[in-house]
Amino acid sequence: MFLVRSVSRTPVLRAPRRWAHSFPQLNSVTEHDLDYFRKILPPSAIITTLPPNPSPESELEPFNNDWMNKYHGKSTTVLKPRTTKEVSDIVKWCNDRHIGIVPQGGNTGLVGGSVPVKDELIISLANMSKVRSFDDVSGILVADAGCILQSLSDYLAPHNYVFPLDLGAKGSCQIGGNVSTNAGGLRLLRYGSLHGTVLGLEVVLPDGTVLDQLTSLRKDNTGYDLKQLFIGSEGTLGIVTGVSILTAPAPQATNNVMLALPKFENVLPLFKEVKRQLSEILSAFEFIDRRVYDLAIKHGQGRALDAEETEGAECFVLVETSGGNREHDEQKLNSLLESLMEADEPLINTGVLATSPAQFASLWAIREGLTEAVSKEGKPYKYDISVPLQKFQEVVDITREHLRSEGLMREGAVRHVVGYGHVGDGNLHLNVVADAYTPEVEAALEPFVYELVAKYNGSISAEHGIGVMKTHALHYSKNAVSIDWMKKIKQLFDPNGIINPGKVLP
Ligand code: FAD
Ligand code: MLT
Ligand code: ZN
Repeated sequence: MFLVRSVSRTPVLRAPRRWAHSFPQLNSVTEHDLDYFRKILPPSAIITTLPPNPSPESELEPFNNDWMNKYHGKSTTVLKPRTTKEVSDIVKWCNDRHIGIVPQGGNTGLVGGSVPVKDELIISLANMSKVRSFDDVSGILVADAGCILQSLSDYLAPHNYVFPLDLGAKGSCQIGGNVSTNAGGLRLLRYGSLHGTVLGLEVVLPDGTVLDQLTSLRKDNTGYDLKQLFIGSEGTLGIVTGVSILTAPAPQATNNVMLALPKFENVLPLFKEVKRQLSEILSAFEFIDRRVYDLAIKHGQGRALDAEETEGAECFVLVETSGGNREHDEQKLNSLLESLMEADEPLINTGVLATSPAQFASLWAIREGLTEAVSKEGKPYKYDISVPLQKFQEVVDITREHLRSEGLMREGAVRHVVGYGHVGDGNLHLNVVADAYTPEVEAALEPFVYELVAKYNGSISAEHGIGVMKTHALHYSKNAVSIDWMKKIKQLFDPNGIINPGKVLP
């Protein structure tokens, strides 16, 4: 039966310095610009290595380097505006002066979109972190873009509402960053994408104009739905300063179970069966392959099942239910588990059903800890792809064999090729863990992985975005006409090309 357990001052530089390489049209921040920024922001909202009072480089480091420490910018200045008006004033100045800007939220992005390519000005939304309003009848929340996802969940809890988005980076990522990446995460199966739940946005456009579309209407068919353009545009069309979003009533009962499967081929029949039996209470179905499960255990992300019980298990699935009636939900889940265990040819070896909030959290900690485990093990090349569910394991295996045939599955090169992801959304996270980020490994992976995705008519980015990592590969998922229209839209909003240059578009 089911195992249940707890598991110095220098002359003012007025002539703007031109970019040496990529963005000849853009200028660097100068002391003249800082004089202006100091007029509109308090000293605490400006971090700069420029004279006359330079901050140490180390203060800029967290803003210039991404979460994986893979992408590195050389920005001299970070501004932390507190109001939409301040953002607007800064952006207008930068547009007039042709200064590149990188909007930055929690800097948890995984495609290098949140750090400068060169020395663009970083605008951090961290000081814009107030909830503007919450309606406990409609569940509509209006918040500043810099609100941290976890703090919004905490805010909603006493009102018996939940945020319709959850992801492992919730302690650092911001709602503005989530919207700008159209983050998917762990609850998409239940609550759908941000394209559906975001009701309105306030955006500072590249010329400094404030586009106020912060409506709280469920229905509004009045022409072009401009806000959709900013959802997932990764800060290339404007800076999101406010978000209106439909939150969901908190489920009265939540349960989860970690299942060990003898072979990958069982995942899809299991998904079908789980959907059939749990129907409306199914809220997550997450896939974890054996290798990445072992990395999670190795790096201390918890242990759901004993080593003996997981022997021979090729992969794991985490199932979550969320419903309105505890007794009814538990009955459904128990009868699913019984039928799975008692089947003539069981799809699963064993499993752990959480019986307390602590166990529930620890099962999720394994899944949510995979990203960190992989990063602790080495340098991850992260491919976040949509492929047909049947191909999940094949993609991982083919990639590993390809690297082997290139002589790269060895010490000093690639350590692991692993897969995990959101089965319910057809989204596989293919992670290649190397000893270092090297041109040799990268050349073996690209365009190999993108060609593979194209062969399966998949997407080169299911949820993390394009950033700087995949601009050259955009054509694998968007045809020439689409890319042409994307460029026209960018040109229309940002003719000077100041907002997040070098990102998304080739
Ligand atoms: P940042 O990283 O700061 O920025 C991301 C992009 O958005 C950049 O292009 C930036 O310029 C832009 N941006 C940020 N704020 C704004 C703004 N206010 N206006 C305009 N542009 C802006 N992603 C998923 O989809 N699903 C997951 O399950 C998931 N899990 C993760 C788990 C971990 C441990 C980590 C480290 C990352 C994960 N991510 C996931 C990736 C990441 O996309 C999300 O963490 C998040 O949406 C990024 O938000 P952020 O505030 O950190 O944005
Ligand atoms: C996840 O699903 O864990 C995230 O998208 C982050 C990752 O791919 O590692
Ligand atoms: Zn994910």
